[in-house]
Amino acid sequence: MALNSKIAAALLVFLSLVTAAQSPSGLKDAYKNSFLIGTALNRAHIYGEDARGVALIKQNFNAISPENALKWESIHPQLHRYDFEAADRYVKFGVANHMFIVGHTLVWHNQTPAWVFQDGKGKPLSRDKLLRRMRDHVHKVVGRYKGRIDGWDVVNEAFEEDGTLRQSKWMKIIGEDYITKAFQYAHEGDPKAELYYNEYNLEKPAKRRGVIELIRKLKAQGVQVSAVGLQEHDGLDWPSLEEVDATISDLAELGVKVNITELDINVLPQATSGVTAEVTAKAEARPNLNPYADGLPDSVQQELAKRYAGLFGVFLKHRGVISRVSFWGLADGDSWLNNWPVRGRTNYPLLFDRQGKPKPAYDAVINVALGQATQP
Ligand code: G3I
Repeated sequence: MALNSKIAAALLVFLSLVTAAQSPSGLKDAYKNSFLIGTALNRAHIYGEDARGVALIKQNFNAISPENALKWESIHPQLHRYDFEAADRYVKFGVANHMFIVGHTLVWHNQTPAWVFQDGKGKPLSRDKLLRRMRDHVHKVVGRYKGRIDGWDVVNEAFEEDGTLRQSKWMKIIGEDYITKAFQYAHEGDPKAELYYNEYNLEKPAKRRGVIELIRKLKAQGVQVSAVGLQEHDGLDWPSLEEVDATISDLAELGVKVNITELDINVLPQATSGVTAEVTAKAEARPNLNPYADGLPDSVQQELAKRYAGLFGVFLKHRGVISRVSFWGLADGDSWLNNWPVRGRTNYPLLFDRQGKPKPAYDAVINVALGQATQP
């Protein structure tokens, strides 16, 4: 080989090494100096039935949440029957892959069986008995995964949009201190676990004020709250980046971390009258509500990429208080947004398409991290 071509070959090897060192091999690597990147595992991931999905999860994420496997109805379907099979597998997967493992969720108004709130005759339980039931459940579940589940969504979605406490059965039977009690029981179950309050729509000022007041009260009572979880079930236009920015700043002032816990972006027309993530909301199927059944137009694909880039720009700005950004699902076909609030739509809310290929939004999110890395 002539000297020139040897030099050229060596240069090529050198350049490819430099490029490999610069281009991260996955989302988690791109953000390794900023925060953890998480995703929510469904049943097919947990049971290894979706091998392609599992490979993407290992490559891109260093934090996991269980989409449904740890909810009350999944692990404690009857008074004297716990079923930890899927939850155990989920935790084993996270431990084996050295991931940050989230427990979702202990006390919520949805996916909690009716028996939880009733006595043997179907009559509402007394406050004391419901508290005991809550304590037993929380101790048992948190205790089982002590030292393995790193952080718990202790109370989920306790507020109405107007900032008042939701009149759930927890609230009606126990009163507003059910939240304090839930955090205390979780802390007893695993004193080292991080404990979170998890909520959606905190960009709405009234709701945000309600949650801020709650966290202040909990802290004044000496209750350990590690972070507020901002779910971020967002749309292409709502909330604005300024609203997200202000929400993170306001919460950070409380002296807690702020995690992004359920990120996805709905690209379909709004089917309900207000912006919500309340899972019981339902709407009728109409053709104009499902415009992209045959594919996402490039213009919307680009809009989604731009929207994701904007959000990650805000998250990076706040990397001092954000510990984790978790997506609510892996690939578009997995998302709850295909069936909510209208069943059977074709939505495109995540970074991987239905074939598991990274979308332009994936590259946009990686590029935000690279851009940040080159700034002084
Ligand atoms: O398990 C049954 C299965 O046996 C049955 O064949 C199938 C038929 O529809 O339904 C399955 O249950 C579904 C379950 O997801 C598991 O796939 C329920 O119908 C469905 O309602 C349930 O939806 C979940 C929803 O929470 C319920 O509350 C979504 O997957 C999950 O993404 C969603 O997650 C919530 C967070 O926990 C809290 N924040 C909002 C977020 C989005 O709604």
